[in-house]
Amino acid sequence: MPSNAPIGVFDSGIGGLTVVREIMRQIPNETIVYFGDTARVPYGNKSKETIITYSRQIVKFLQTQEVKAIVIACNTASAFALETIASEVSIPIIGVVKPGARVAAEATQNGNIGIIGTEGTIGSRIYNQYLSEMNPSVNVYGKACPLFVPLVEEGWLRDPVTVEVAKRYMSELQGKGIDTLVLGCTHYPLIRHVISSIVGDEVTLVNPAYETARTLKEVLESSGIESITPATNHKFYVSDGAEKFKEFANTILPCEVAEIKGVSVGA
Ligand code: DGL
Repeated sequence: MPSNAPIGVFDSGIGGLTVVREIMRQIPNETIVYFGDTARVPYGNKSKETIITYSRQIVKFLQTQEVKAIVIACNTASAFALETIASEVSIPIIGVVKPGARVAAEATQNGNIGIIGTEGTIGSRIYNQYLSEMNPSVNVYGKACPLFVPLVEEGWLRDPVTVEVAKRYMSELQGKGIDTLVLGCTHYPLIRHVISSIVGDEVTLVNPAYETARTLKEVLESSGIESITPATNHKFYVSDGAEKFKEFANTILPCEVAEIKGVSVGA
């Protein structure tokens, strides 16, 4: 695979753009092919089998774009499908969960870590598993926040309804003494300001996107496939709602997104 081949990135919707933004900042030479599965969002309330099927279809599509590596920019798909998909493809494939857990394990001072994510991610207990491997003495408190993804996809990033919903979810983490909170869904950094205003400055918010981009950079370098020429034409695909997606993409990303193509990846 040539080193100027693109990186495939996917999510259920717009959340993965928070990871793309970080990749563009840290490794600007890399060209991105993004797929947002907007016809089937949310992933967070679906079964492991369904998420593996969807992820497999998307990876197959990304491989038709001749990507040299894939980032699963979705915690739910990373939790449920990374291991299976990684055993099926021969290019490097990384998820967002392990990088996020690593930052949280390093950031906590008192060992009390909160994780917020989809029902799938929290129910999988994958963050608990990685965190206890990294530091067996940490206490991990998970809280599923299923209404956050539709609120973000709706664009209600500063709406009073979003603030109210966030207060209710965060109240369940109160009293646990957490000093670190992982935004364990790639949609959540888009409402980081709301979450932060509720939990307060004394709680460190961890966005796994930063560490994921760093991990990608390391993987590309160690495989000798990092791009040494400037990024060319980033491509964005969705399974539905291309126009709405384009508006979002242009508010989130540091580059202009001129075109979003619709594509069906289902069997
Ligand atoms: N943004 C994804 C995640 O990180 C998926 C959210 C969803 O579709 O429910 O989990």
